[in-house]
Amino acid sequence: MEPGIRLYIPDLPDADELVPFWRRIDAARWYTNFGPLEQAFAMAAATLLDAERPPGVATASSGTAALALALQALELPAGSRVLAPALTFPATAAAILAAGLEPLLADVDPNTWTLTPDIARRWTASVSAVVPVATFGVALPATAWDSFAEETGLPVVLDAAGALGRQKAPRRCVAVFSLHATKTLGVGEGGLVAAHHADLVARVRQLSNFGFEDGVAAVAAGNGKLSEWHAAVGLAQIPRAETLWGAKDRLCGAYRRALPGVPMQAETPGNLVVRLPISAERVARQLAAEGIETRRWYQPDLTRHPAYEQLPRAGELSATASLHDHLLGLPFHSRLTDDEVSTVARALIAAVARPASEEDRRWASVSP
Ligand SMILES: Cc1ncc(COP(=O)(O)O)c(C=O)c1O
Repeated sequence: MEPGIRLYIPDLPDADELVPFWRRIDAARWYTNFGPLEQAFAMAAATLLDAERPPGVATASSGTAALALALQALELPAGSRVLAPALTFPATAAAILAAGLEPLLADVDPNTWTLTPDIARRWTASVSAVVPVATFGVALPATAWDSFAEETGLPVVLDAAGALGRQKAPRRCVAVFSLHATKTLGVGEGGLVAAHHADLVARVRQLSNFGFEDGVAAVAAGNGKLSEWHAAVGLAQIPRAETLWGAKDRLCGAYRRALPGVPMQAETPGNLVVRLPISAERVARQLAAEGIETRRWYQPDLTRHPAYEQLPRAGELSATASLHDHLLGLPFHSRLTDDEVSTVARALIAAVARPASEEDRRWASVSP
């Protein structure tokens, strides 16, 4: 059945908005390799991240490439362990492995669903770096992670793939963003590395371009560059950003009003996810039957993917296990109407039919 209410509709500039930027590409006949549009986009993105004190920004061909390049740029010994949450999209682990490092899978906080500095503190002796993830696009506490990095001396790379526009640029840590079409500032495919370390940003840029320095490959590296075409979409997208994010703020408020007391993210997220007292899979099936598309974002977690189930774990991952099959992503995109949010909320409450636990009783008292 075709969904009547779609989970996600990417919101990118249309052809008319892109034409002026395409004309600039035509005029310059410069299509990639840090052309004028890439340079302008990197500067505009830096200002977007922090208008008062813009970080250095390097662009990349995807969020995954950006994360791998940022980790490679740390120049850790091959095989060093990197603490990362098991509750994340597979790209987090893939990027750590691509950088020649080994993920050590950590648990998340049961309420914020993120790897926190407190959890990471227990494993500082076992790892050489930490990659916290902005779960479902909710910004990570930049100041707390900066303090963690200061106090432990460990490099921290925030995988803020879905949090561009919400994630404050940290002072000491590195932050990585995705520009995938479904993210908060989509260009199609692309990524950003932001940091207040000029050397690190320069290294990321070099690593994204075959390791070239003065015409020779100074380090062995591949190609992770952002093309001028993608930078053009980025430049056309930036003036639309506040409107896009404002629409998400409004929808988030509508969901909170329609689902009072239901655990969901505290801030405006990239993906709107609720924690259910019963099987999310079962609820997803019921909503699908009513034409409502949902997605169990980040499920299965990394411990359940064949490619990553053998990775070492930082103790018991009990919060991750308890969230398994209880998190469900609801429709969340700039074209969603308040009426559709009410329809989704009503269907969700009806689908969670037989409460059994304390939390379930809270659900029972919820009315749309
Ligand atoms: C947490 C996280 N990290 C990394 C990525 C990878 O980003 P990209 O798709 O741009 O490679 C994603 C993509 O969804 C993600 O959710």
